[in-house]
Amino acid sequence: MTGVIRYNRDGDIAMIAIDNPPVNALGQAVRQGLVEAVEKAEADGARAALIYGEGRSFPAGADIREFGKPPLEPWLPDVCNRLETSPVLVVSALHGTALGGGLEIALASDYRIATPAAKVGLPEVLIGVMPGAGGTQRLPRLVGVETSIDVITSGRQISAGEAFDLGIIDRVEDGAPRDIGLSYTRALLAENAPRRPIREMPAPQPIDFDAAYDSALRKARGQISPAYAVRGIQAACELPFEEGLTRERELFRALLETDQRQGLIHAFFAERAVGVLAELKDTNARDVNSVAVIGGGTMGAGIATSFLLAGFPVTLLEMSEDAAHAARGRITGNLSGALKRGKIDQKTYDRLTGPALALTTSYDDLREADLVIEAVFEDMNVKRDVFSRLDAICKPGAVLATNTSYLDINKIADATQRPEDVIGLHFFSPAHVMKLLEVVVADRTAPDTVATGFALAKRLKKTAVRAGVCDGFIGNRILAAYRAAADHMVLDGATPYDIDAAIREFGFAMGPFQVSDLAGLDIAWAARKRRAATRDPRERVPLVADRLCEAGLFGQKTGQGYYLYNETPPKPNPEVAGIIESARETLGIKPRAFSRPEIQRRYLCAMVNEAAKVVGDGIARRPLDVDVVLLMGYGFPRYRGGPLKWADMDGLPKILSDITAYAQDDRYFWSPAPLLEQLVAEGRTFDDLNKGAGK
Ligand code: NAI
Repeated sequence: MTGVIRYNRDGDIAMIAIDNPPVNALGQAVRQGLVEAVEKAEADGARAALIYGEGRSFPAGADIREFGKPPLEPWLPDVCNRLETSPVLVVSALHGTALGGGLEIALASDYRIATPAAKVGLPEVLIGVMPGAGGTQRLPRLVGVETSIDVITSGRQISAGEAFDLGIIDRVEDGAPRDIGLSYTRALLAENAPRRPIREMPAPQPIDFDAAYDSALRKARGQISPAYAVRGIQAACELPFEEGLTRERELFRALLETDQRQGLIHAFFAERAVGVLAELKDTNARDVNSVAVIGGGTMGAGIATSFLLAGFPVTLLEMSEDAAHAARGRITGNLSGALKRGKIDQKTYDRLTGPALALTTSYDDLREADLVIEAVFEDMNVKRDVFSRLDAICKPGAVLATNTSYLDINKIADATQRPEDVIGLHFFSPAHVMKLLEVVVADRTAPDTVATGFALAKRLKKTAVRAGVCDGFIGNRILAAYRAAADHMVLDGATPYDIDAAIREFGFAMGPFQVSDLAGLDIAWAARKRRAATRDPRERVPLVADRLCEAGLFGQKTGQGYYLYNETPPKPNPEVAGIIESARETLGIKPRAFSRPEIQRRYLCAMVNEAAKVVGDGIARRPLDVDVVLLMGYGFPRYRGGPLKWADMDGLPKILSDITAYAQDDRYFWSPAPLLEQLVAEGRTFDDLNKGAGK
């Protein structure tokens, strides 16, 4: 037997232990070992076989090291079939995360028992495929079509309690998986429980599968794997079991070939690669046990909440008693939300809103903080003033971080005598929810300060991406470019609503004008006014946005922006058409029509071009760092892999030639990124750069 499977007898029962750390992934050796073990159990004359996992979990899914490689025999579907058709009674004892192929093994067993903390699920659609080892055939026979569609198209993790209620598992019991499995199997033998292969259960009742297919596609914003899974479930209703398995396999293989699968796998690996910084291999992070936050507005309150939830005591400094009171209100509001959603219990809530949180207006209270993070107004003078005060009061070695969105962190660091301790920690709103953190490294930031940023992100359960200093760092700099492309299209003839619809059709949850309304149009307006003096005269001014702001239409916060918010869903604001028309008149523009594909193309090309500049300038270290920022912070559809993965799959030469064509009308905005030109000239892709950088 392979080393990862251990076989023992306990009386009539063959004990089959899977021991393939860390999560008992179903690699080739495990699959082969399972087949050999069941054969041995049969040859041994065992009456039952118990399968369980050593260590952290029952098999948590496929072995990611086999992704993208030709499949090795035995294949998981055959392993499942072998288990299910064995004359021996097969029982699975689940703990940890019995996901994907792990649950499919369990479904191929006659009986299933789980520990209360176990989670089950079929998350394959989340990486662009679908259950391929009988999951779409067995689950519907066991629990019906509706539940199967929910479980399989969402890919969600289900607690043992819920799985029991749904009928996915037969029993929940506390204890070591080996022990609860053994006593359950003994009990089953004692009562002469029959074998219970799911394949012999009647086919489930069908539903309107075309409607279910459409609904799955819509819910996933164009991602096809959930919709394909619906077709798999349909086969369980309409075809004999073996033919259903064949159909499932065909659908699974078709998904393997798609760009969406490639995009999702890229996203999966890129999220793991962003945290690997070779230059910090031998650098230790500083100890951070207490945190101070300056400014308790939207971001400061969210950041404080995030640290509190991660177990840090927080001191928050505001400008006045009133502002401190308001900040406490915001944090308490965030934490009540967490309490309501069951993320924390009442006791934790009481502690986090009580002793763990101190509000102050005095810098004296920041003397002992290991890390201070500033989230005051986006104003260089205010920030420099804060940092010079911090410099005067903070203990040596304290990390001094800024949450600025755009400002030059080198200039902020200059306000101190300790620029090596200064770093950007750029959170996204709402800061206690969003998982992305840009760690912005300034010219003199010390390596151990950077390492501390990455270590903190881990403790906050966030994904950190390293960025360099420039206006907007990685994400906001690229946002400014594609946002500008959208504004230009409005001036030239598209409506904001055409653009929002086209961008949603591409797979974003919201279009750029909906996002602007949500964030508040006044923020970008203030930034434009700040930069007016240094703006290049060739840059086109987004006159429409300016005029909306002049009319006091700031978006959701004023109830009116590009849309009207007095009803749901919000309607286009009729005032906007007039504003657009008058802006075009002022600029002497004769509007023309834009098709949806052209809108998408220009938007995406602007995004890719700026992203290539961000990589070329060294602001992002690799293309995959950009992809993760756009995926996690800006709603780029995950199944498209991020802008640069999308660009690779779409073809860089065509993107460059489109950019060059757009430049006929606006040479300044559409100047092609040198890196893009270089890659096209060399016949390479962005992903080649990822690999070169040790992805
Ligand atoms: P906000 O206006 O909601 O909050 C700023 C808070 O700072 C206010 O409560 C104000 O009383 C306080 N404050 C101002 N000056 C202060 C001082 N000298 N000492 C102590 N407290 C002071 O602003 P928001 O949106 O929270 O932004 C804060 C920072 O975070 C800005 O740098 C912004 O660019 C950045 N940011 C904002 C994001 C957003 O989505 N709103 C996202 C990421 C970063």
